[in-house]
Amino acid sequence: MTYETILVEQHDAVTLVRLNRPQALNALNSQVLADLIAAFAAYDADSTQRCLVLTGSEKAFAAGADIKEMQAMGFAGAFGDNFFAGWERVTATRKPWIAAVAGFALGGGCEVAMMADFILAADTAKFGQPEIKLGVAPGMGGSQRLTRAIGKAKAMEMCLTGRMMGAEEAERSGLVARIVPAAELMDEALKTAAAIAAMPPLAAIANKEMVNTAFETGLATGILFERRLFDGLFATEDKIEGMTAFVEKRAGNWVGR
Ligand code: HXC
Repeated sequence: MTYETILVEQHDAVTLVRLNRPQALNALNSQVLADLIAAFAAYDADSTQRCLVLTGSEKAFAAGADIKEMQAMGFAGAFGDNFFAGWERVTATRKPWIAAVAGFALGGGCEVAMMADFILAADTAKFGQPEIKLGVAPGMGGSQRLTRAIGKAKAMEMCLTGRMMGAEEAERSGLVARIVPAAELMDEALKTAAAIAAMPPLAAIANKEMVNTAFETGLATGILFERRLFDGLFATEDKIEGMTAFVEKRAGNWVGR
């Protein structure tokens, strides 16, 4: 598969997707969206691939939706053509994926990072939702995911002022899982992804669905969802293998059933 705006590599069971529009600081235009939808669908469908890392460049993860593409767009284009709804196909990815963020993650860039299962940030990362300065607002989930991640006060301040948040504040606020020195970001992201890829695959999807459910439902419903899925894992061969391997003091050999 060839893509116009992204580079895709496989490192054993880890798919690495790099946004590649350096001339526009990886601004997310409709071709980037089409490429990402195809790459994420290919990843989800490939049973040899168990974790994905999405990254940008040293200077920018992504500086937002492409302002030049949106400049001439009116309501009919945005609403009528449902222009941005395609991103929901990226968030529908079942298998785990990580955003590895260095430099700017602004507007749609911040929103795409927040679509990931978690964010690993370089110490150079800068997050923001500056859409208000363009006369608009977040449109790919930012007002919702940022608020859930860092709470109303900080999310409201970021959206209303458009200010950027550095990596340390982002970690302290719960937006990112971990900060690493910029020079180590890719090694660390690939190492973390490889650790996830080595886990029993059905349990990985179940863990992801459980944590996401905590984001989307009330506590009682979430706990019931967790219990049912937990019980269901007891029907898998990997559960028998995992517990047997523990007792026998050896590593598990996963079959994904
Ligand atoms: C299109 C962009 C872009 C963007 C940068 N570029 N961001 N093009 N869309 N979002 C282009 C610039 O026009 C320029 O190209 C080149 O990338 C380098 O950018 P500079 O501005 O020269 O770099 P620098 O001075 O280092 O400033 C970096 C920056 C700034 C602070 C990140 O580029 C910036 O403020 N960008 C816009 C950030 C933003 O507002 N994002 C939110 C977008 S709205 P040329 O060819 O001109 O030199 C959004 C909506 C999401 O994301 C919701 C949609 C549903």
